[in-house]
Amino acid sequence: MDVITSSEALRDFVSSKRMEGDTVGFVPTMGALHRGHLSLIDLAHRHADIVIVSAFVNPLQFDNAEDFDRYPETRHADEEMCRQRGVQVLYRPNAAEMYPNGFATSVHVDRLSSILEGASRPGHFDGVATVVAKLFNTVDPDVAVFGAKDFQQVAVIRRMALDLGFRVRIVVAPTVRENDGLAMSSRNVRLDTEARRAAAQLSKGLFAARAAFRTGTTNPDVLLYLVAGHIGATQLVTVDYVHIVDPYDLEPVEEAGPDDVLLVAAVVGGVRLIDNLVLGDDDPGED
Ligand code: PAF
Repeated sequence: MDVITSSEALRDFVSSKRMEGDTVGFVPTMGALHRGHLSLIDLAHRHADIVIVSAFVNPLQFDNAEDFDRYPETRHADEEMCRQRGVQVLYRPNAAEMYPNGFATSVHVDRLSSILEGASRPGHFDGVATVVAKLFNTVDPDVAVFGAKDFQQVAVIRRMALDLGFRVRIVVAPTVRENDGLAMSSRNVRLDTEARRAAAQLSKGLFAARAAFRTGTTNPDVLLYLVAGHIGATQLVTVDYVHIVDPYDLEPVEEAGPDDVLLVAAVVGGVRLIDNLVLGDDDPGED
């Protein structure tokens, strides 16, 4: 596996592989890799001849400097995991190259970026769209793999890729969960024991609502009440939102259907967590 830090070297690598006829799969990450990321890498291998993983903690997408400073960094472990998973290139751009002095460009996806997570984290999706556009521009992948846990992020990136004419195919990998159902996230390491226990209630609430949907409950208020009942409101947990939304425009629905998505965001023990389930699915799958 090569570890590459400059965009020029990465472009050279990709064009030499393309001349050999290889297709390129891409998994953008912010490092601190866990089993969820490994499933993205495995899926990328199924869709492309070579796999490139990027690891860049993108300052633009943090609305809070403390959150950025506390983002876990596990460089050595990340490298080892990528190597063992058959990744061809780990791309670690440095911040100065990603955002040269005077950087003044932002990619903004209207509406989708300002609701839900975007309303609670102003500027977050501009940061995501900007860095992913830059990465797509450098890597020029055939396929890029994102995790279903970040449902809104996927919607924003799909829109951005379509609008800006990137020829990449976006593939979505199902959320990987801990044994108690907690969605894997690099932030989970920041949960203490009590918060970790409380965090598991998020997915339990989602699963309970989905079970009720399967037995015929389609009233969103009833389903949302079930989720809220599981999560509870304690000093440790502040629920930001729980919604059932249309998968395309992310607007709340009046009656829940199998394609609709149950989204939850909460701050648990000081750590912001998100999760979701598609009501009619075991997982969101890929396109
Ligand atoms: O999901 C993430 O890890 C990040 O938002 C991404 C897509 C790598 C952009 O920095």
